[in-house]
Amino acid sequence: MAYETILSEKRGEVGLITLNRPDAMNALNSRLLSELLDAVGKMDADARIGAVVITGSQKAFAAGVDIKEMQDYEFADICMNDFVAGWDRFAATRKPVIAAVSGYALGGGCELAMMCDFIIAGESAKFGQPEITLGVMPGMGGTQRLARAIGKAKTMEMCLTGRLMDAAEAESSGLVARVVPDHEVVEEAMRAAEKIAGLSRPAVLMTKETVNRAFETTLAEGLRFERRAFQSMFALEDQKEGMAAFVEKRSPSFKNR
Ligand code: HXC
Repeated sequence: MAYETILSEKRGEVGLITLNRPDAMNALNSRLLSELLDAVGKMDADARIGAVVITGSQKAFAAGVDIKEMQDYEFADICMNDFVAGWDRFAATRKPVIAAVSGYALGGGCELAMMCDFIIAGESAKFGQPEITLGVMPGMGGTQRLARAIGKAKTMEMCLTGRLMDAAEAESSGLVARVVPDHEVVEEAMRAAEKIAGLSRPAVLMTKETVNRAFETTLAEGLRFERRAFQSMFALEDQKEGMAAFVEKRSPSFKNR
């Protein structure tokens, strides 16, 4: 598939996807969704890739779903086409995905960033769910993932008024992992992705899956899930290697990567 709305590249063991609709603030249209799913799907299946970084431009990570594409849709269209279903496929990516966000991450852009495993933000980043100002509401997980990330009060305020949140507030609220200068945001995300890509893949995949359980189930079930996952790691050669390397004061060389 030839990409028109994204750039996709491999840097060592990390996949880097850049949203690339500069004339439209990287608005997420259906073409971009299918290209993103294609690129991420290939990276997820590529044994040589250990983690993925998604970024946009200095101005915008993504300013939302493409309003011009969406404006004439009828209820029956979005219902029958299951308009949002593709994004569920994106969120089901098994390998870690890091969002490197500068500029606007609004509406579906904020929701896309929240579908990633963590967000590294540049100082210029602005997050928001302004759909209410368009006469609609978030539909790609914004009400749910934002509430889980930053709690009810700020989520309600943002979803009901459309207020944007700057990078400093996003960090203090727990929406983003870290804020760095804009010109370092991709570099920092790449560094984190490279670190992950150098670790035991099964341990990484199970850790991601287990952390995600925290948002889907009760504490007791989540703890049981974690315990089984933890126990199963002792069946991996990587556990033997990782612990032996520590004891022998050397760097581990994980087999499963
Ligand atoms: C389509 C968009 C767009 C969008 C920006 N553009 N956002 N086109 N869909 N979401 C286009 C503009 O129309 C314009 O094109 C060009 O990008 C530059 O944008 P400007 O508005 O001129 O730039 P600026 O004044 O700097 O303002 C930036 C902005 C503003 C604050 C980000 O563009 C904005 O408010 N955008 C919409 C944000 C939004 O409401 N997002 C939520 C979308 S709904 P032209 O051709 O005019 O130059 C959504 C639903 C999710 O995401 C749930 C779905 C299931």
